[in-house]
Amino acid sequence: MSDVVLSVEQIDVYYGASKILFGVDLTVQRGRTLALLGRNGAGKSTTMKAICGIAPPRRGRVAVHGKDVAGRAPHVIARHGVGYVPEDRQVFPLHTVEENLTIAAKPGMDGARGWTPERVWESFPLLAELKTRRAGLLSGGEQQLLTIARTLMGNPDVLLLDEPSEGLAPIIVQEIGRLIRALRETGVTIVLAEQNMHFCLGLAEDAAVIDKGHIVYANTIEALRADPEVTSRYLAI
Ligand SMILES: Nc1ncnc2c1ncn2[C@@H]1O[C@H](COP(=O)(O)OP(=O)(O)O)[C@@H](O)[C@H]1O
Ligand SMILES: [Mg+2]
Repeated sequence: MSDVVLSVEQIDVYYGASKILFGVDLTVQRGRTLALLGRNGAGKSTTMKAICGIAPPRRGRVAVHGKDVAGRAPHVIARHGVGYVPEDRQVFPLHTVEENLTIAAKPGMDGARGWTPERVWESFPLLAELKTRRAGLLSGGEQQLLTIARTLMGNPDVLLLDEPSEGLAPIIVQEIGRLIRALRETGVTIVLAEQNMHFCLGLAEDAAVIDKGHIVYANTIEALRADPEVTSRYLAI
């Protein structure tokens, strides 16, 4: 039997009077990684923001472990096990790397405190070397790693990563890819928004393609890769 951690059903999202998402559906199974792919402006970030409560849907359902959380405040949705890593890296610039982690520490849904600073140092060797550095002094890539690590300190069941590789040096992109693979081994469920399908191959099992606020494709990522009609029509490749 499938075990759905996150289910988005027929959500419509508006910014003011502009309708941005049109009946978006997504299903994310426990322990799997879903790549949410689409061109710039397609609606990937808006979908993420709708799930985590920053852009509440005007219609539809966002169910986490079967419980509808659509329209609830972001901190409430976070408490239901949703960890969101926004595309603009959010760290406390005047606090050290280690303080950024301890500030974010929260037990997970089941009370688990699986993520500790020690575990972060093991999983993020680059951050371990920067423990005492103020976060505002980190490079963009280091801040991205710290933003992911901070979110993990809240022990989420489902992690939303919004274009984590965007604009970063190849070495950091590799590090992020390695990290996502390592996270998958721990059983965390991931939604990975990306423009670049190639970055997601080997990271994600499933793929959904969004275009102009509509989901236009949903299948395994291998099926998507083998479908040049869809990739050339909807993705920048
Ligand atoms: N705060 C906002 N106000 C109005 N329109 C927005 C806002 N944020 C995004 N949009 C519009 O919503 C659409 C989807 O944007 P977004 O979800 O950021 O796409 P993506 O993440 O796929 O690049 C775009 O047309 C964008 O211009
Ligand atoms: Mg975006």
